[in-house]
Amino acid sequence: ANKKLLVLPGDGIGPEVMREVRRVIDWMSRRRAVSFELEDGLVGGAAIDAEGTPCSDATVEKARNADAVLFGSVGGPKWDGLPFEQRPELGILRLRKELGLFANLRPAKVQDPLADASSLKADLVRGLDIMIVRESTGGIYFGEPRGIETMPDGKRRGIDTEVYTEDEIARVARVAFDLAKKRGGKLCSVEKANVMQSGRLWRAVVGEIGRAEYPEVELTHMYADNCAMQLASRPKQFDVIVASNLFGDLLSDLAAALTGSLGMLPSATLGAVGADGRRAALYEPVHGSAPDITGKGIANPCAQLLSFAMLLRWSFDMDEDATLIEQAVEKVLAGGLRTADIMQPGMARIGTSVMGEAVLRE
Ligand code: NAI
Ligand code: MG
Repeated sequence: ANKKLLVLPGDGIGPEVMREVRRVIDWMSRRRAVSFELEDGLVGGAAIDAEGTPCSDATVEKARNADAVLFGSVGGPKWDGLPFEQRPELGILRLRKELGLFANLRPAKVQDPLADASSLKADLVRGLDIMIVRESTGGIYFGEPRGIETMPDGKRRGIDTEVYTEDEIARVARVAFDLAKKRGGKLCSVEKANVMQSGRLWRAVVGEIGRAEYPEVELTHMYADNCAMQLASRPKQFDVIVASNLFGDLLSDLAAALTGSLGMLPSATLGAVGADGRRAALYEPVHGSAPDITGKGIANPCAQLLSFAMLLRWSFDMDEDATLIEQAVEKVLAGGLRTADIMQPGMARIGTSVMGEAVLRE
């Protein structure tokens, strides 16, 4: 059966970097006899302008029917004045919610030639390859009660509640264990079981699943504050990390900073495996729509290209093609070509389409 792929370029540099992916797709269908059933859709500000909403029912329907969604980025100054409920960023939130995308995979990988772009000493990060699995539909960003209320004395208080059910913990833990099994065989589960009840349950449930279903994976537990310190001092000790929505948010941003190159980082968000055996999945770069460089032709397309590689590997079982793209990106960097965001002394500065071309050539 044809693989159905929905492409949602979105706003800002989204369409610019997506263009380079389309060239890779064209090349693949010519040279590797792969055929995708491609569909395009609107999301974010582009959808607000055309349809009056950041993610229409039609886009949700297309996403449900697709085997995987490749997302660009949304948002920009044009829509910044809109009330919160109408902002472009809600487009991605709606998609995550409607597709039930509960596991956010954020690799933090340092490409060898870029080791000295890190905020850490190059030796500490050379060869770094971590995968952070962040729970993305539960926890304190969604728990009830929440809100700002006025107390009897007239002062206000803000409330957020961290709630995790056993099932929510178990399903994201299994995604992380499966990944660890395919990678280095190590999983570090992160919480604050010392001061949080949801953290105690988290540690217990992950431990139970590890013992019962993944005895071959080496499981460790770490408090989130310690994990932040360890990431910033000895990051190479980690293989796969699994954490709640809040802790995963912080730790994955920290890990991203260690790589020093936002324009290089892909991500995936996975849902449950449905009755039809398919797993809903959305792939997107970690970066946003970069309004400051939109239209200049200088955005780095690598994060979007590597997001497509993740899609091929995780949704389409096309490991070989995924590796081909990843290695092509590595070779281009090793050859000395750089977009402005990853520019280093002595390297050749190029724009979006030349980078895309160079990857294609490799
Ligand atoms: P950003 O990631 O768009 O940009 C941060 C900085 O990194 C900027 O200086 C930008 O030029 C640079 N940058 C980002 N991607 C790059 C690339 N591929 N190549 C070269 N340079 C790159 O984050 P920012 O500025 O906080 O947000 C801008 C807009 O994007 C906002 O409207 C925000 O809400 C939205 N956003 C959307 C996301 C999404 O669609 N999932 C994620 C993050 C932000
Ligand atoms: Mg964040």
